Amino acid sequence: MPNRNLLSMHSIENYKTVFEQYLSQGHFTQEPKGLYEPVNYILRVGGKRLRPLLALMGYHVFADDFRQALPVAMAVELFHNFSLIHDDIMDEAPLRRGIPTVHSHFGLNSGILSGDVMLIYAQQYLLDAGDAPLSARLLKSFNRCAIQVCEGQQWDVDFERMDAVTIPQYLRMIEYKTAVLLACSLEMGAMTAGASDADLHHLYEFGRKLGIAFQLQDDLLDSFGNAEKFGKKVGGDIVRNKKTFLILKALELANPADKADLLHLMNTPTNNEQTKIQEVTTLLRQLNVPDLAKEERNLYHRQAIAHLDQVAVPDARKLTLYELAEFLLDRDL
Ligand code: IPE
Ligand code: IPE
Ligand code: MG
Ligand code: MG
Ligand code: MG
Repeated sequence: MPNRNLLSMHSIENYKTVFEQYLSQGHFTQEPKGLYEPVNYILRVGGKRLRPLLALMGYHVFADDFRQALPVAMAVELFHNFSLIHDDIMDEAPLRRGIPTVHSHFGLNSGILSGDVMLIYAQQYLLDAGDAPLSARLLKSFNRCAIQVCEGQQWDVDFERMDAVTIPQYLRMIEYKTAVLLACSLEMGAMTAGASDADLHHLYEFGRKLGIAFQLQDDLLDSFGNAEKFGKKVGGDIVRNKKTFLILKALELANPADKADLLHLMNTPTNNEQTKIQEVTTLLRQLNVPDLAKEERNLYHRQAIAHLDQVAVPDARKLTLYELAEFLLDRDL
């Protein structure tokens, strides 16, 4: 039975508080304001802070002073928020975390340039995260991940205009655009703590599988979530014809008439978004697609846990990661 003291010491909230304190120590107070105000705007509205939590927890699995991983945590949160600013431009999204997206509030040019500078600062934090050999390893892992995120984002956009996307293609797309950053956050935290190659591998795979489950859940929430809790526009993926698991499964299962209807809905420009969202979600429900997406999500969640099981430390050191994985599975935000 895991040690209770350790359990309370390692609560998810505790890591979050430590990260929020670090973040609030005025990192982007310099001039020009036009460049840094959007950075502060997006960083301050919060979010789940999932990637920094993973970096801190990834460190804490192997060594005690997890504050050593704060620069890595900062780097991954900066990179994540950069990717969100540019993603919202690409997805023409009006809302993020319950407030207007950076480009809607500050304009397109601000979204582009403030996003760019965050990406560069992410690398800067990694350069300062440890001695030269460690920084080089961190940067190598980070750059591989960042390249994959761009590749995943390009597939996501390409698929909007393609009818014949397969589920394996979709899974690879979400692995790249989303899952590898969760994996890399854990890996870089653990690297900073000096974890072995075998443990780094299992932690990375835990993050990768968890990230696929996480994006499947994000796709579910985008079509079926509660708008207030979700903080983003519900139905946005349907409006943009995103080829999510939901749509691909529906195309696979629908009878010829329903399939033709769905393709027609997706391929015909509409000025009544709400009707389109309504008709598509009704069809998805009829085909039981939300439950199938949950099953797929749970499958990746189980595979993730099997890798965490194999990280060779006492269970008590991994407790909060098990907890976090559980929270992510059923989240509604
Ligand atoms: C949103 O990520 C982008 C996806 C990969 C789905 P999060 O859901 O982690 O966003 P925040 O940081 O909590 O707002
Ligand atoms: C986001 O995918 C992936 C990245 C930001 C790299 P989505 O487009 O599904 O994310 P949300 O739903 O806008 O947060
Ligand atoms: Mg988006
Ligand atoms: Mg997107
Ligand atoms: Mg989404």
